[in-house]
Amino acid sequence: MERFDFKIAQDENVYPPSEDSYLLIEAINPINFGKALEIGVGSGIISLHLARKIDTVFACDINPYSLFLSKQNAFANSLSNIYLFYSNIFSSIKVGTLFDLIVFNPPYLPVESPPRKIIDLSYHGGVDGGDHIRAFLDGLGSFLSNNGTAYLLQSSLYPLENTTNYLEKNNFRYKIKKTLKLDFEILYVLEISFFKNNKF
Ligand SMILES: C[S@@+](CC[C@H](N)C(=O)[O-])C[C@H]1O[C@@H](n2cnc3c(N)ncnc32)[C@H](O)[C@@H]1O
Repeated sequence: MERFDFKIAQDENVYPPSEDSYLLIEAINPINFGKALEIGVGSGIISLHLARKIDTVFACDINPYSLFLSKQNAFANSLSNIYLFYSNIFSSIKVGTLFDLIVFNPPYLPVESPPRKIIDLSYHGGVDGGDHIRAFLDGLGSFLSNNGTAYLLQSSLYPLENTTNYLEKNNFRYKIKKTLKLDFEILYVLEISFFKNNKF
């Protein structure tokens, strides 16, 4: 496919570029960011977009097929500034490492049964859909630089106020940067920074 001018190969074990991926890309203006991190890189579509504008992009996933495919896609688009690694959310990142930009399009579907296939890890958000969102928010304050910005995709399938209440209580500020109404849900992109940062 050639949307956003990239050559993107796909794999049945990897989340393909989708409406939520493109909504995030449209929400992010990747200027003035020295070091970026994408959690859950999937096919690499978002990190490829970032890597055209940002010096260094770190990108992780728990799905080894995603890491392999993203590497191939970076190569096919002549991008050599994307560093791919395994991580369960922030688990592999050394404490004290800070990023100016952090992006996450999490698995967010509410599902009762555990994931069975590796591709299920792309969708499975736990019983209420919020498992990965909560884990991301819990780590965010430790890895976002003082003037940094994070972009989080969330669906109306998991209550937006759970996230906004958490942010307000934990000294973050946020803005809803994009919304997209689909048949059974509304997608939101939240732009998040520390409260003391007056960037927006
Ligand atoms: C909805 S897909 C998004 C993929 C890609 N960023 C995009 O927007 O097209 C979610 C991705 O997060 C990955 N993932 C799931 N659980 C994760 C975890 N605990 N830590 C890191 N990545 C995870 C999945 O393997 C999948 O690649």
